Order: sequence, then C-alpha cells, then structure tokens
Amino acid sequence: MSVGIPISALWPDPSPQPLDDTALAAHYGRADRPHLRVNFVTSVDGAVSVDGYSAGLSGEPDKRVFGLLRMLCDALVVAAGTLRHEGYRAVRLDERRRAWRRAHGLPEYPTLVVVSDSLDLDPAQAAFADAPVRPVVLTRVGAAAPTGLTDVADVVRCGDDRVDLAEGLAELRRRGLDQLLCEGGPRLFGALTAADLVDEVCLTVAPLLAGAGPGRITAGDASAVRHLPLRHVLAAADGVLMLRYARD
Ligand SMILES: NC(=O)c1ccc[n+]([C@@H]2O[C@H](COP(=O)([O-])OP(=O)(O)OC[C@H]3O[C@@H](n4cnc5c(N)ncnc54)[C@H](OP(=O)(O)O)[C@@H]3O)[C@@H](O)[C@H]2O)c1
Repeated sequence: MSVGIPISALWPDPSPQPLDDTALAAHYGRADRPHLRVNFVTSVDGAVSVDGYSAGLSGEPDKRVFGLLRMLCDALVVAAGTLRHEGYRAVRLDERRRAWRRAHGLPEYPTLVVVSDSLDLDPAQAAFADAPVRPVVLTRVGAAAPTGLTDVADVVRCGDDRVDLAEGLAELRRRGLDQLLCEGGPRLFGALTAADLVDEVCLTVAPLLAGAGPGRITAGDASAVRHLPLRHVLAAADGVLMLRYARD
C-alpha cells in the first residue's frame, strides 16, 4: 500500500523505521476486555476546531490513524452535535480494511452509534440512510423520534432526563459491541469522563497555534481529575504527534 507522510515510533521504543499499516494498527490494537477508546485531534494550544471544524486540525497522518481506529472497533460512537455539524456520512472502509476485519472474525463494518438527548436527527442523513450496518441511537426515555428514524436505526432508550451513558454502553455490550471508539465531540467526551467510562484517549497534536476562541476537546460538567498513563508517542514527518493514553 502507499504510505504518504511517514509515521514512526518515538516512545517507549524509538525507531526511525516508518510504520506500515500493520505495525501502526498493532500500536493501537483491540483490548482483551470491553473498552472505550476516545479519539481527538487538537492544536498545540488545545483547540477542538479551526473555523468551527476539526478538518482544519487534521492532515494525512491523522486521517490514516482515524481510519485505522475505525477498522479496529466494533462500534463507532458519536455525539449528535458532531454528527450534525460535521455532516457525518455512512461509515465506509476500503477493501483492505474490510479484509482485515473479516480475517479477524469481525463484521465488515463497525456499527455507528449516535448519542442524542433530543433526537433532533435527520433519518435522510447519509450516516443513517446509506449505513452498511443498521445504526443504534442512544437516547433518553420520552424523547420524540422524528418520522422515519426507526426505519433506519435502532432507537435505544436509557435514562429518564438525560441519556444514562453507563446503561447505554452496557446495552451496546449486550449486543456484542465491546470495543468502542468515540470520535467526540467535546460534550460527549466530557460526559463520558464525568461518568468514568473512558479507558483510553488517542490524541493527535497538530503543530498549530489556533489561538483563543475555539473550545477545548472536552466540555460540560466538571469531573474528578484522574491519572491516565501514556502508552506511546508516534511522530509523523510533518511534525504531527500521535499520543495514546490508557488506564490499566
Ligand atoms: N477535534 C476533534 O477531534 C473533534 C472531534 C469531534 C468534534 N469536534 C468538534 O466539536 C464541535 C461539536 O461540539 P458540540 O458542542 O456539538 O458537542 P458534541 O459532544 O459533539 O455534541 C453535543 C450534542 O450531542 C448530544 N450529546 C452529547 N453528549 C450527550 C450526552 N451525554 N447525552 C445525550 N446527548 C449527548 C446532544 O445532542 P442533542 O442535541 O441531539 O440532544 C448534544 O447537544 C464541532 O465544532 C466539531 O467540529 C472536534
């Protein structure tokens, strides 16, 4: 396969050898127990977006890891805000990544899971309408589903006033979705942190100063500070860092 901007390992085992996709995937892997991985890209000064979108922070190395993390997961969890704002399309993987999944006994595509309190969702959005696997929507009891949503997604209700994320994740695991990848956004990340549900954070740091204005990668209610050990540091040749933190 063609590898664009080379990515190599800096820590804990430095090697100048560019990582191919197999080696890169091995740096992230799948956990041997139910696991929630969160993936974000940020600037040096901690911005969640540039001009309102994550695209201004991302580049080819980040997109490569982003795609590999999708290949590795059972389900991709995204907040309704990010789904709407970033215009999520159906989750697609190229043939090589689908072949990797088949070889590892996984369905060809991960399941898309959308978290929404309001159910202000458009069933015609490609993320639902073109989905290769029927998506799951986690919402609260009493939220009114828009016409057509239940035609294109399983609507799972957990929590009375707000989505109960622990209950929602337990339901996903009952469906065999153990390895979860959360692609944000910040309010969902903040809520998952507050509920102590985050096992791992993969963070791409772009060599950019975004300045004041954009929010952080997390938002919402404060939560207890906890230690998250560093597991690896990778560097792309254009100065982008890929950090992986995970609890034991
Ligand atoms: N840098 C990155 O890697 C990255 C990644 C993702 C997103 N972003 C950026 O983040 C911004 C979007 O942020 P945002 O403020 O809209 O936050 P968000 O977390 O993406 O979305 C918030 C919305 O998602 C739903 N939601 C989130 N947490 C929930 C919870 N615990 N329970 C129930 N529903 C929940 C709610 O949807 P309802 O309104 O439907 O109830 C809520 O209004 C965009 O600028 C996007 O580009 C950046």
